[in-house]
This record gives sequence, C-alpha cells and structure tokens, in this order.
Amino acid sequence: AHTLVGAKISNRQLSLVLLDFEGEQLAELELQMPAATFSPDRLAGVIAEAVEDLTRRAGLTTNDISGVGLGIAGIVQAAEGVVYWSPSLTQRNVEFGDILTRRLGRPVFVDNDANLVAVAEQTFGLGQSHSDFIVVTIESGVGMGLVIGGDLYRGTRGCGAEFGHTKVHLDGALCRCGQRGCLEAYVADYALLREATAVPGDDPTAPPAARIETLLNAAREGDSTARSIVDRAGRMFALGLANLVNIFDPELIILAGEQMQFDHLFADEVIAAIRTSIVQIDKAPPEVVIHKWGNLMWARGAAAYALDNVTDIALAGL
Ligand code: BGC
Ligand code: NA
Ligand code: ZN
Repeated sequence: AHTLVGAKISNRQLSLVLLDFEGEQLAELELQMPAATFSPDRLAGVIAEAVEDLTRRAGLTTNDISGVGLGIAGIVQAAEGVVYWSPSLTQRNVEFGDILTRRLGRPVFVDNDANLVAVAEQTFGLGQSHSDFIVVTIESGVGMGLVIGGDLYRGTRGCGAEFGHTKVHLDGALCRCGQRGCLEAYVADYALLREATAVPGDDPTAPPAARIETLLNAAREGDSTARSIVDRAGRMFALGLANLVNIFDPELIILAGEQMQFDHLFADEVIAAIRTSIVQIDKAPPEVVIHKWGNLMWARGAAAYALDNVTDIALAGL
C-alpha cells in the first residue's frame, strides 16, 4: 500500500495520522510525551516507535509508507531537514530529517510546525479558495505560516515567518528562544502560566494544556488576576496581528492552535482590536477566522507536505 504519515510534535504531545494518497485517513495516534525536550536520537526513537504503532493499527508495516512529514516547533531548514533550534530538542543544528530517515528506513521531510498548518489549510481548508493568507497559531509558542500567491514563504534561510519572536518590548520578558521582549513571551501558554502561578486551581505539575484551560476558565468566570493576565495577553496579541496586517495586507488571517480551541483571548475583542489598531483606510479590513482544528489537523498538513515531496522526487526521477 502507498501511504503517508503526518506527525506533529509539540510540548509533551505527539500526534500522528496515516493517510492514503487520496487523503483518506487510515489510522491516527496521539501520545503524551515523557518529557518536553529530548536528545535528537531519543526523539527520533520515540517518533519511530509511534510510526510503527500507527501503521500496525491499520494492519500495515513501515514498508507501506511512501513518506513521513513531521512538523516541529522552531527554526527549520525544510529543504535539508535541519533543525537549527527547537524547543523540543536539547541540541541545536540537528540534521533531524536524516536522523529520522535512517531510523525509519523511509523518507522523512521536516518543516516548521506552523508552516504545516498553512499546508493543511492549502490542502484541506481555506487555502483552497485563498492564495494570500496567514495562519497564526498560539499554544506553547506563537507560530506562523505565510502563504503568498499560493506558495508557502519560508525565507531565504528557512527562518522566516517567526511571528512569535517579533519584538514588542524593550528589555522585556524572557522568551524561550533566549531573547527578551518577544511577542510569545507575553501570549504563549508558558508566558501566561508563568504570570499565573497565584491563580486558584493552577497546578504547576499538570500538563500545560490542562493548566492553560484552567486559567482561561478562571478568567471567564471572573477571577480578577486571571482576567487581567488574559486581557493583557489578548491586547498584546491583537497589536501583533495588526502589525501583520500592516506589513502583509493579507486577504485572510486564520487563528489556530490550542488556545483557540479553548475559546480564548476573548476572541471577538481581539478581532475588534486588530481592526482599530491597523492603519485606517477606506477598505474593509482582512477577514479573521478562528479554526478550532486540533493537533491531528497539523499532522494532516505534515502528511500533505510528505506527499508534495514524494511526488516531486518521483517526477524528478522521470
Ligand atoms: C517557534 C516556532 C513555532 C511556534 C509554535 C515558536 O516558539 O519559534 O517555530 O512555530 O513556537 O510551535
Ligand atoms: Na512558520
Ligand atoms: Zn523569542
């Protein structure tokens, strides 16, 4: 059988889908990860085992896989499969595509996680009818996928579209990238949870997704500390998004990722704040939509990315 695997690795979660070449789903698997960061070999081992388990679920073996796509947070040179920096890896400059390809014995294609959400939109979502759009994800980091004229834009070093690390503060809060004052250091889940240690019900040992949901619920129910943390994050986020509109003037902005699944950031207020913060002209502002797609859609984008690569390689061989 010709099948494709798509995988997303995020903070303590690994999500995988097995698709056929028509995009039909044959199996899925979601795992809690034993840690947040791994050595490259350890992470490759965890992913390889999960891929084997996934194919077994469909009554297949890894020999039935034509290609594997993997979305990982961080600075990824997709063409070469090099991960320059990732919050999931203990090392920098890792040839992770090669490591995984050797480990699995199947071709593996690695890209930035949020880029693959944009690929998911192109293949299965609003990208089918829009050629200039931006996907912004917000969970354990702030990610971005930028589609210009129907093509995903990665930058010349593969480091572009890192919206989470746009600077919003002089000498500001510490970001997980090592710099200060990045947008995500104010709006990503770790940033909110860092501020929220005194919010009732916030258990620092619970997984980040559970904790952020608790915080958002507390804010919604009127807890004043939670409310002010979330309000401020929402305002910062809206300013960042207004910058994106001012720079790129996209047709559409799609907000996705875990925090959006939890009805977050008083989304209507964020959208209204984008409208009032952009340069005012006599034209309707870009549409902003929220997609509550979970990790499996990111994984589907990764599978679609694998298909693109497998097809390109096959065509190059003709
Ligand atoms: C990383 C991005 C990633 C985003 C979402 C950020 O911290 O720098 O590469 O897309 O988190 O996971
Ligand atoms: Na990106
Ligand atoms: Zn940063």
